[in-house]
Amino acid sequence: MTAKTDSKAWKESWETRCREAKESLAGHATLEALEALRLKYLGRKGSLTELLKTLKDLPLEARRELGGPANAQKEEILGLIEASRGSLEHQSREREIAGTRLDPTLPGVPSPQGYRHPLTQIIAETADILGRLGFSWAEGPLIETNYYNFEALNIPAHHPARDMFDTFYLKLAPKSPEAAGEHGNLLLRTHTSPVQIRRMESARPPLRIISPGRVFRHEAVDATHSAVFHQVEGLYVDHHVTLADLKGTLHAFMQALFGPKTRTRFRPSFFPFTEPSAEMDVQCLFCSGSGCGLCKRSGWLEILGAGLVHPNVFKAVDYDPEAWSGFAFGLGIERVAMLRWGIPDIRMFYQNDIRFLEQFP
Ligand code: PHE
Repeated sequence: MTAKTDSKAWKESWETRCREAKESLAGHATLEALEALRLKYLGRKGSLTELLKTLKDLPLEARRELGGPANAQKEEILGLIEASRGSLEHQSREREIAGTRLDPTLPGVPSPQGYRHPLTQIIAETADILGRLGFSWAEGPLIETNYYNFEALNIPAHHPARDMFDTFYLKLAPKSPEAAGEHGNLLLRTHTSPVQIRRMESARPPLRIISPGRVFRHEAVDATHSAVFHQVEGLYVDHHVTLADLKGTLHAFMQALFGPKTRTRFRPSFFPFTEPSAEMDVQCLFCSGSGCGLCKRSGWLEILGAGLVHPNVFKAVDYDPEAWSGFAFGLGIERVAMLRWGIPDIRMFYQNDIRFLEQFP
């Protein structure tokens, strides 16, 4: 055979197979049959694939003439197969839908919704109220040194005031000598006041911060005590801050938290880091002051501790107590939440029982 007849034979054979492929494509009815056809003609061992491989044995002239059109035909057949697959798939979906009785007017299946934890809600609300009064959020470590938790707050070692805080001390060796160093042993912070020291060390007055967070006390757990609970503390330092500023701020805070009719009162108290110190009561939210079991017949509920920053605290952070004055206050988040919602047992906050949590949407 000459090269010419060779090319002619190739071309005829190619065209016959293409025609055949197109004819069978028109006749098939299922996705499986379609796939079989694809393999038969254009699979790795398909007849068109095989023939196309022999094209390279033809003379250059013939390859130039036949190659382009042959590839175009191959693409065309592939396109037909894909189009056919699309329409078969569509038909099969249609059949499926026609076979099910679908009622689009039925209500959907509701997915369960989560809520913010009541303590998170109170913290957010507190930050919001005090934020409007100019206080900004500050955080500090849960593991503290003796220095930040006690010494800098005017509670020296062996001072009886340490009795106020039953402390978890850590046996951990500090990572580096500087981590503990002169600051002494590590412990779980018993209040968020250390955050105030840290902030005062790194900023100059005037400043207004709140420090919300988790605190730890070595307590027997019962309905009103927990070894882990939450506090929000506030600190304001400026020139000429007075007890009247403190009282006004806290009164506004309590009214925003418990309602505009809330009455408050100050009682003298003691904290080592404030002088003078006071506690604030709100009029009993349950009996409005007439006396009930919850307020122990007194008509008042203790809600927070407060006072004017002690000069020794200012000295510890290198603020001149003659130039600056300030107030600080602290309250327990769990207690506020228990009063707000009438929750009888502090342990409920930590059990994560969905039936409890979903009551605070
Ligand atoms: N740190 C005190 C406590 O945990 C609360 C407090 C803060 C009291 C600031 C007075 C001033 O009990």
